[in-house]
Amino acid sequence: MSEKVFYITTPIYYVNDVPHIGHAYTTVACDAMARFKRMMGFDVKFLTGTDEHGQKIQAKALEKNITPQQLVDEIHLNFKKLWQTLNISNDDFIRTTEPRHIKAVQNIFKKLLDQGDIYKGTYSGYYCVPCETYVPESSMKENKTCPECGRPLILMQEESYFFKCSKYVQDLINYYEKNLKAVMPKIRYNEIMSFLKSGVRDQSVSRTSLKWGIPVPGDENHVIYVWFDALINYIAALGYPDNLEEFKKFWPHVRHIVGKDIIRFHCVTWPLMLLALGFNLPVEVVAHGWWTSEGEKMSKTLGNVVDPFEMVNNYGLDPFRYFLLREIPFGNDGNFSELALVNKINSDLANDLGNLLNRTLQMINNYKNGIVPECNNPKSDLSELAELTIKNADEAMNNYNFDEALKFIWEFIRRANKFIDEYSPWKLAKDPEQSEKLNFVLVNLYEALKFSALLIAPFMPDTAKRIYNQLGINCEPVKELYKNFKWGVSSGNKINKSEVLFPRIDVEEWRKNKNKMSEEQEIKQENKIIEHEAEINIEDFRKIEMRVAEIIKCEEIKKSKKLYKLELNLGFETRTVCSGIKAFFTPEELTGKRVILVTNLAPAKLCGVESNGMILAATVKNEGNTEQLTLITPEKDIPLGSRVS
Ligand code: ME8
Ligand code: MG
Repeated sequence: MSEKVFYITTPIYYVNDVPHIGHAYTTVACDAMARFKRMMGFDVKFLTGTDEHGQKIQAKALEKNITPQQLVDEIHLNFKKLWQTLNISNDDFIRTTEPRHIKAVQNIFKKLLDQGDIYKGTYSGYYCVPCETYVPESSMKENKTCPECGRPLILMQEESYFFKCSKYVQDLINYYEKNLKAVMPKIRYNEIMSFLKSGVRDQSVSRTSLKWGIPVPGDENHVIYVWFDALINYIAALGYPDNLEEFKKFWPHVRHIVGKDIIRFHCVTWPLMLLALGFNLPVEVVAHGWWTSEGEKMSKTLGNVVDPFEMVNNYGLDPFRYFLLREIPFGNDGNFSELALVNKINSDLANDLGNLLNRTLQMINNYKNGIVPECNNPKSDLSELAELTIKNADEAMNNYNFDEALKFIWEFIRRANKFIDEYSPWKLAKDPEQSEKLNFVLVNLYEALKFSALLIAPFMPDTAKRIYNQLGINCEPVKELYKNFKWGVSSGNKINKSEVLFPRIDVEEWRKNKNKMSEEQEIKQENKIIEHEAEINIEDFRKIEMRVAEIIKCEEIKKSKKLYKLELNLGFETRTVCSGIKAFFTPEELTGKRVILVTNLAPAKLCGVESNGMILAATVKNEGNTEQLTLITPEKDIPLGSRVS
């Protein structure tokens, strides 16, 4: 068995959700890790996918009048598109509606049933429909609401199959006691241990209340509980049960990366299933923190969900990838702020990395006609730091400290910039006696850039390639191995034209645009917010007298930009009404129109004219803050004065 094997997974994303920064985060982290390990010489398999069963899908499909399968066939593409946009190098994408997955789930269910680890019983408990989970009484919130989403729980009772997981709890505790890094970070490890020690009851693993799921083999009234179904994706993707070659190779090296909200499923339920199956437990389960947006919890209702497509579009892919992994330590919660992203682009990317590239290429162009010179002894403190940096980055990556790995890499990049200032090559270039020293400096800078490209490649694959291109190296850094890199073997390379890697963003300009955009956003938002009045009863409503009336005359009120003076015929009398609709109609358009008039509104004086009533209209604000208005008119010809109720 080769030691250099690495199997890494993201959770399979719930297919009904619109992809957001949280999804992007897990997957970008796994991608950086997968690419890093490949460059470290590992045989890597990197899996992601979509979780496609459950109540919500069933309900939504019904609403759209299509089958659940048709629905998921359509919406799982949102995720595929995002991975393409984010340049994710996954080796496989699994969907829980694929035959290979269904087969693995049914096989495992049957196996556990046959060996007596799954049995039939009755389940009763408080259930959260949106979260598809039973909530134990101990973690329910006020008025029996869900601790996750806050919505009311319903008491459910159903016949159910149970997984006899209590049988394996002690084995799992023993495993974790011996493997302190099996759950990371430490805070999650402790959380899981204390949960396990408080006792775990057998878990219900089937539902009769749900139809859109994988049928229990031999008992089609039941479908398999979504989490029992979903977790199995990790081994279904390795060919289990039909083809065990990949399973044997990769399973002993599996790492699951998940958000902190789903660690119980990954660090309790799943390992207990694996113990029952006799398979090895995950080497590591790593839980990352939760993103908020501009200081607030992300939610659809607040409208502050960070859209990864939009971020990539506005700021570029690699800056977004860099920011996600550099901004906060992996296990911590973090706040997504666009200003912080802009500042990182300016300081780390444009300034540190961009400048190093431009200055170096310019000097090689100016002093050496664009050819990397010869240098007999290119070893320097920079080459030493390069060796140390890859060691440090490797250690940080092994602990899933992406931010620290990037800090080490940037220390190296900054050191290289300082190297330029220390040696002042522009002075050396003027003195023929110093030509060897100048070569030494230029070669060191060239190698530093080449090595920087390799270092950043797992995080920013495109940028690494652009640097290689400018350095005149015709291959892809992500396909290289770190161990093959040698300092000082590039003499004779011809560099290409230097291009700006990351244009600086003018923060003041950016702020102005941002303000303008958020105003527009606010207007959109305003239209979306439905303001409800306090409830009234039918008696209250009857107090409003509304009647059909015809506009027989329309005059301008000179003093007012908004108001017309209207004469209205109610059949039994005429009325004068001031109406703020000047901006929307000409007097000709209004004359002869039939409208609805509120006739018992107290008189009011507007611009010196007494108004006796109000005509009904519907309004909406458009983008750019303009208003749209339409008059409410009777659908059929009906006598003037008819009561509206
Ligand atoms: O849980 N910040 O899928 P999912 C950070 N289908 N991470 C976030 C986040 C946020 N604001 N919002 C979500 C499921 N995530 C199951 C998994 S695996 C066998 C089944 C992360 O789409 C979350 O922590 O609801 C989780 O790791 C991932 O997105 C998928 O969440
Ligand atoms: Mg979720």
